[in-house]
Amino acid sequence: MNGLVIAIDGPSASGKGTLAKRLASHFGLPHLDTGLLYRAVGWRAERSGEPPEEVAASLQADDLADPDLRGDDAGQAASRVAALPEVRANLLEYQRRFARQVPGAVLDGRDIGTVICPDAPVKLFVTASVAARAERRFQELRGRGADPIRSRVLAEMAERDRRDSERAAAPLKAAPDAYLLDTSDMDADAAFAAALAFMAGKGFRSAGP
Ligand code: DC
Repeated sequence: MNGLVIAIDGPSASGKGTLAKRLASHFGLPHLDTGLLYRAVGWRAERSGEPPEEVAASLQADDLADPDLRGDDAGQAASRVAALPEVRANLLEYQRRFARQVPGAVLDGRDIGTVICPDAPVKLFVTASVAARAERRFQELRGRGADPIRSRVLAEMAERDRRDSERAAAPLKAAPDAYLLDTSDMDADAAFAAALAFMAGKGFRSAGP
């Protein structure tokens, strides 16, 4: 892995996806939202009855295009299949190949800095309090025209955190050399500025204007 690999991990609604997209655009790198892979596996396996590990081994571009994958049901399905070691093993090589692109790549997920790209030169662990993250998700759902129940959004967020952090296979945790970014009191611009400052301190600056 020789390029500029930016590994971003963190729980849901921490702001890692937004940050990943902005860093990718700033540095001119391709971006992979690895959560989408798990969502596609969970969603297809639940609806078709195929074993999740077989879905993971035969995932197609079409599987990733379904707009329903962004919903909370797909997120819960993803979190369940993500606990299966065979599913994780079958998605590993695709993610590593993506990371090996020249001149680099941005990947966001739960185990990028710990398992997928342990040698990444830049690792960020983006987090926020469960209350702050649940409030973001609540507002996002309302913005999409849904009528969510605040307490339920909070309970589901806590449940997903628990499942992602306590599973034996590649649990959500910060790599020892990751930069911790707590976005509880930050907006997306502040998180982006903090990440850029951290990267500049390591000598990584965009070649562009
Ligand atoms: O980031 P997200 O909400 O789209 O992720 C959906 C689920 O997939 C999440 O609950 C945990 C799982 N996941 C994972 O285990 N490893 C990853 N690298 C990315 C996501």
